[in-house]
Amino acid sequence: AAEKIYRASTTAPVNIAVVKYWGKRDAKLNLATNSSLSVTLSQDDLRTLTTATCSSSYTGDDSLTLNGAPSDITGARTQACLRELRSLRQALEDADAALPKLSAMPLRLVSENNFPTAAGLASSAAGFAALVRAVADLYELRSLPTDLSLIARQGSGSACRSLFGGYVAWRHGTQADGLDSRAEQVAPASHWPQMRALVLVVSAAKKGVSSTSGMQQTVGTSDLFGERVARVVPKHMDAMEAAVAARDFASFAEVSMKDSNSFHACCADTYPPIYYMNDVSRAAVRAVEAINEAAGKTIAAYTFDAGPNAVIYYLEENSGPVVGTFYGLLRGTEGWKDEAKSYSSSSIQLD
Ligand code: PMV
Repeated sequence: AAEKIYRASTTAPVNIAVVKYWGKRDAKLNLATNSSLSVTLSQDDLRTLTTATCSSSYTGDDSLTLNGAPSDITGARTQACLRELRSLRQALEDADAALPKLSAMPLRLVSENNFPTAAGLASSAAGFAALVRAVADLYELRSLPTDLSLIARQGSGSACRSLFGGYVAWRHGTQADGLDSRAEQVAPASHWPQMRALVLVVSAAKKGVSSTSGMQQTVGTSDLFGERVARVVPKHMDAMEAAVAARDFASFAEVSMKDSNSFHACCADTYPPIYYMNDVSRAAVRAVEAINEAAGKTIAAYTFDAGPNAVIYYLEENSGPVVGTFYGLLRGTEGWKDEAKSYSSSSIQLD
């Protein structure tokens, strides 16, 4: 008889931070210098789908196929995730001799993103969250999302936030072992269901400076960064949690934009400087300013990760002026018409 193939599939959504994670206090464990807060996007728009299988008929090492091509998983980050998941499975098997010995079998992982990989669209966040949950499901670990966030964090810091829907905080923690550096839900998506994100893909090319080396350079050479960690982020975290609790969009927007600006200012303050935003990104900033000016109040917010793509947050009731005006304003911008593509006016994931 053919050997049994054990299988589990899951999807994980992209999250886009409104208070940014930037800087590691421990590069091996991916412990952050500061806390961060993100909004999880709808799985309909941007997500990773991962299937994990294992079988005693499989030979060779663990493998990952990403978007149809073999992908290297020998890196320390992925290995750390797989090692932790296996040891949790091993503990279950040690406690119950009737369980199949899945921990001893090679793993085959197959992942698909429905968006460009490594384009500054937080592909690693959805990718590691999906990988960790797929293997945790395969191993029937029954771990809580917060526990899985500790494992996903070791793959990619921002991945710890993609284990939850809605509004999610990653508390940087102070312990050296990182057990207090994990994600928690601040509010479910249903708390503020009118929230929308417009993802504007300025460039789908791979980003120039990886987040890991950008962070290292910032921590090592930026004088501004110390101010960001000591004063700017704590203020933004408090204001952002209050804005989400009160569903205060103007405040949510102001903090989002200021925090994105602060993060990119630190990148420009590194030596040599790092510029993730380009002319088209700056045109998107001006478009948001024009939209808010025309409305007479703040109805749109921009934020940029480690790449030129813009994410615009707005409330559903303002989709006309925001999405409509956006295209009108940007149509004439050089580099926009040919390269830019809107993924969707995506809704926020409902739990
Ligand atoms: O998770 P990483 O190592 O790819 O870093 C992500 C950093 C930002 O996207 C710029 C900010 C964030 O909080 O997601």
